[in-house]
Amino acid sequence: MVQLKSKEEIAQMRPACIAAAATLNMIESHICAGITTNEINTLVHEDTIRRGGIPAPLNYHGFPKSVCTSVNHVVCHGIPGDKKLKNGDIINIDVTTIIDGWHGDTSRTFYVGTPSPKAKKVVEVARQALVHGINMVQTGATLGDIGHAIQMFAEGEHCSVVREYCGHGTGRAFHEEPQVLHYGTPGTGLRLEVGMVFTIEPMINLGKAAIKLLGDKWTVVTRDKSLSAQFEHTLAITEEGVKILTLESLLQNS
Ligand code: MF3
Ligand code: CO
Ligand code: CO
Repeated sequence: MVQLKSKEEIAQMRPACIAAAATLNMIESHICAGITTNEINTLVHEDTIRRGGIPAPLNYHGFPKSVCTSVNHVVCHGIPGDKKLKNGDIINIDVTTIIDGWHGDTSRTFYVGTPSPKAKKVVEVARQALVHGINMVQTGATLGDIGHAIQMFAEGEHCSVVREYCGHGTGRAFHEEPQVLHYGTPGTGLRLEVGMVFTIEPMINLGKAAIKLLGDKWTVVTRDKSLSAQFEHTLAITEEGVKILTLESLLQNS
């Protein structure tokens, strides 16, 4: 069942969402060749706490770290470790912060140094795929409309959409209903209504869509080892329209 949120509850979610966004912005200036994903984990962990939050990934279903760091052909749920980033890598950093019991979930994919043409392609397609999905969000539209828009755009750019992982409702729990698929058929699936709060987080591969789970039971990689990129926002549907909760925007004042 989808837990609809009141106007007050959506307002209560903003601090967690803004904190997650701010932590992600802070991290951007630290991304460079030579930094390890463990060091990124420490920066995220400490910044989250400094903002009065709790890093949601830590111990979530046994996840051992405070942030997911997914490098190159890692699709999602990469575990920070002692490997150093190198020039030309891409890295998705997925930050989820809990404040006052509410979750804010957002991720971006960053370039390390100078990107290759392939890296640029998959990252920019993933960035735009999220925008295409967000543009479909309005009361009366369906989840299938969102998925379809993302799929059409990504496949039109000769990239593929990962099927096994999706966006999700979020709130008091990290992952709530509904599941927000990044592919689909227009007019099908749940109808969007005021009070829904969910993420859109398309995982876009440069090669084929197939993935596999590594032996650590968390790290998801592309089967063909092609590059994969992802961007994520938490959104709310309100009486006044769609709000991107994980965006600190001049156009949104609450
Ligand atoms: N932040 C991820 C998402 O967007 C979930 C990570 S779960 C973890 O849904 F346990 F790996 F942290
Ligand atoms: Co999410
Ligand atoms: Co996330």
